[in-house]
Amino acid sequence: MGKITIAIDGYSSTGKSTVAKQLAKHLGYVYVDSGAMYRAVTFYAMQNGLITETDFNKEALIYQLNKINISFKFNEALGFAEVYLNGNNIEKQIRTLEVSGFVSKIAAVSEVREQLVEQQQQMGKDKGVVMDGRDIGTVVFTDAELKLFMVASAEKRATRRYNELTERGDSVTYEAVLKNVVDRDYIDTTRKDSPLVKADDAIEIDNSNMTKDEQFSKVLQLAIMTVEGLE
Ligand code: CDP
Ligand code: CDP
Repeated sequence: MGKITIAIDGYSSTGKSTVAKQLAKHLGYVYVDSGAMYRAVTFYAMQNGLITETDFNKEALIYQLNKINISFKFNEALGFAEVYLNGNNIEKQIRTLEVSGFVSKIAAVSEVREQLVEQQQQMGKDKGVVMDGRDIGTVVFTDAELKLFMVASAEKRATRRYNELTERGDSVTYEAVLKNVVDRDYIDTTRKDSPLVKADDAIEIDNSNMTKDEQFSKVLQLAIMTVEGLE
């Protein structure tokens, strides 16, 4: 079977990475979490005092972009690739609500996007890749054979993300998680560079009332149909 590129975009906590990981495993494709790359740059900016609640030194971040090396290493036990910043595994540190609170500001910087998009395109150049994010079907892989756009109600998404964070031991409130989801939706959809928007040729999936298994079977069916359609 020929290999295709699968681009999955959508709002925060719509289940993009869950379904992307399942698809990649099933099809023997590489999964790339592009959001983890924006989170890694955010983590770097936080560690180096470039972004705080009151201040964002954008120029310094742009100047230091050449010091930020992001890589992925497959973890057999987890079944997906974890993200590394300058050689250190930061997979857990980048999932906090604090990082989520800053990431959309960092992701709105064109110089950051330019560097990450180039790396993402390199990672997907041989096809056989499932990548999820906000601009994968509209900017990174405009020629992807299958483009999905995932949506769900803000309350459903906040509940899912709240459960995920509390299960891993983070102390957060539902209200703070919902606010983060809504704030990020706003910044991500209104930024000038590569705003989150459904590509004209993307298939929209509302999974507000779908279980993870239900969404996976729907998406797998679309992927198989796409591959078969090309043969
Ligand atoms: O998992 P969740 O949906 O919460 O977010 P994510 O996929 O880890 O992405 C975090 C943030 O990175 C998003 O809210 C966007 O601001 C940014 N992002 C982006 O601008 N473009 C991408 N391709 C992926 C993420
Ligand atoms: O990658 P994205 O931010 O779009 O979402 P995710 O990290 O895949 O999913 C966010 C949370 O929702 C995870 O804890 C998933 O297990 C959960 N989820 C769910 O309960 N039901 C779905 N249909 C999809 C995701």
